[in-house]
Amino acid sequence: MSFRIAVLPGDGIGPEIVEQAVRVLRALDLDLELTEAPVGGAAYAAHGHPLPESTLALARQSDAVLFGAVGDWKYDHLERALRPEQAVLGLRKALGLFANLRPAILYPELANASSLKPEVVAGLDILIVRELTGDIYFGQPRGVRTLEDGPFAGERQGYDTMHYAESEIRRIAHVAFQAAAGRQGRLCSVDKANVLETSQFWRDIMIDVAREYPKVELSHMYVDNAAMQLVREPKAFDVVVTGNLFGDILSDEAAMLTGSIGMLPSASLNASRQGLYEPSHGSAPDIAGQNVANPLATILSAAMMLRYSLDAAPAADRIEAAVQAVLAQGLRTADIHEAGTTRVSTIEMGDAVLKALN
Ligand code: IPM
Ligand code: MN
Repeated sequence: MSFRIAVLPGDGIGPEIVEQAVRVLRALDLDLELTEAPVGGAAYAAHGHPLPESTLALARQSDAVLFGAVGDWKYDHLERALRPEQAVLGLRKALGLFANLRPAILYPELANASSLKPEVVAGLDILIVRELTGDIYFGQPRGVRTLEDGPFAGERQGYDTMHYAESEIRRIAHVAFQAAAGRQGRLCSVDKANVLETSQFWRDIMIDVAREYPKVELSHMYVDNAAMQLVREPKAFDVVVTGNLFGDILSDEAAMLTGSIGMLPSASLNASRQGLYEPSHGSAPDIAGQNVANPLATILSAAMMLRYSLDAAPAADRIEAAVQAVLAQGLRTADIHEAGTTRVSTIEMGDAVLKALN
């Protein structure tokens, strides 16, 4: 079977790290048709839009998208609709990528990279399931308006709208319960039900869906407490499910617990298992073009792509084993380098993964 993959390198370190993941994919003897297209600031510079129609069309026709990263200070002055981030949001919405899976795994070899004590994080393995196409990110109405009455009458007011439809909550709940069922069987739903109506509704639906998964233990936590528990006792979590905004914040926090955000992949899936795969880190324009960025998160994202969208779990296993092997060999890019390990460049790390593939 042949698969079509849209390769969207983007900005900053995006092109360098995606190049290494593409080398790994090409080495697998799978029938993959890889087509590259511009996205983000690079696409704005070339075509006047961060998500050109041709790039979106390519993504739609593909089985999966391998995405680098977007964003650069150069584009911060642009109006919101033309900023690189709009490419990410546009792809998520256009492809209906509602389920964002963000694993936070601490590799034993990197236990000292965390800012938390090794005993608090050793063996950490959390999966954050973030709803990705709803919530205040996309809610209407939004904007700036002039108030007619009330205590701030006559002033301008910025506003956004948080809402979730029942089916949006149900479908992300199913993804999360199924993920938990395949792991340790514990699901923590994070909300702010003590304050927000949307959250109380979210909680009610989670409880309802839980009846279909008697083997999964569902708990609930307010988001402020979850932020605290993540640094206090992170290993108490197995799978976390939450809305778009809270998931954005908590997934950055969880990634940092591992101390090596350069290692963490992510997947964003729709109902037909079409997916967008990208590293959890950003475009890091400060180190772009220097051959120092860590390509492993992108290489591991390619592995997730094989597993979730292309039904090629054995190939995914091969990539993950190769990454384990290069870590065991002591090879480290600058972000995870420490005394006693060998510092390698982006390309050298790609070379090492290719060599370790078997
Ligand atoms: C992320 C990013 C995006 C988000 C931005 C770039 C729109 O922070 O993928 O977490 O907020 O979802
Ligand atoms: Mn984010």
